[in-house]
Amino acid sequence: MQKIKVWDLPVRFFHWLLVAAVVVSYYTMKTEGAPFDFPVEIHAKAGYIALGLLVFRWVWGLTGTHHARFSNFIYSPANTFRYLRGLLSGQGAAYAGHNPLGGLAVLALLLSLSLQVGSGLFLTDDIFFNAPLYSYVSSDISSVMRKIHTWNSNLLLVLIGLHLLALLVHSLKGEKLVGAMFTGYKHLPAAADEQHGHEIKRHINLWAALPLIAFAVGVVAWLW
Ligand code: HEM
Ligand code: HEM
Repeated sequence: MQKIKVWDLPVRFFHWLLVAAVVVSYYTMKTEGAPFDFPVEIHAKAGYIALGLLVFRWVWGLTGTHHARFSNFIYSPANTFRYLRGLLSGQGAAYAGHNPLGGLAVLALLLSLSLQVGSGLFLTDDIFFNAPLYSYVSSDISSVMRKIHTWNSNLLLVLIGLHLLALLVHSLKGEKLVGAMFTGYKHLPAAADEQHGHEIKRHINLWAALPLIAFAVGVVAWLW
């Protein structure tokens, strides 16, 4: 076994803050009556935080450390099928970053989350709250966005459910993926090949992310 650094600090921070923002977004909409009555502003602000995190993650997926990059976890269909075949025959290869199936799930989560926050920006609650882009569109467009927001919120719940199910399966197989999302480190078989076992370079971690983090915080502050 070898212990290698896989998730940089920004990716870990992104993940756990995103989980908190998404939980608050659902909680504020899905619960009713005292003591669960929240003004829609709280829902929207949790959504703005999710939006800022997604702005960060889309760019970090192009510019970030090795395993954070889309190019290192979006695999060809042939590779994905090979991984799937191995998985079904009980010998899925060990990956340091997201495995081919996990990579697809991450992409689906990021797309659905982006659609959720994007559509939210055009909504109104028809009483006190108009989202920042509501006044720029016709009421027809706003009501289409409302349908998308409702429909996609259910799709997102399915994707999150599958995400948690996959994590459960991995943990039953003895893979400590959740721990790695906290510490950044994974323990991998010494034989894991060079590409899959690539250790991230520490020195580009935080400093390279700072301008991007500042930009994402600026977007949230502007929407706030
Ligand atoms: C993580 C992001 C978000 C999630 C998971 C989420 C989820 C939801 C859900 C489940 C509903 C109830 C839908 C229904 O039953 O019809 C809802 C409604 C709504 N959302 Fe979001 N939302 C998010 C982001 C946003 C953002 C960024 C905004 C606006 C700035 C926003 C504004 C609204 C509004 C105005 C409603 C309608 C409230 C009402 O009718 O009183 N949401 N959202
Ligand atoms: C609101 C619920 C959640 C959402 C929207 C979500 C979303 C995501 C996303 C987008 C990623 C990709 C990370 C990246 O590369 O940037 C990810 C990975 C991950 N998430 Fe979650 N997550 C949720 C809940 C959880 C929970 C509750 C746990 C722990 C119990 C968890 C554990 C993990 C782990 C371990 C990974 C890395 C998987 C791997 O090694 O390939 N997530 N999640």
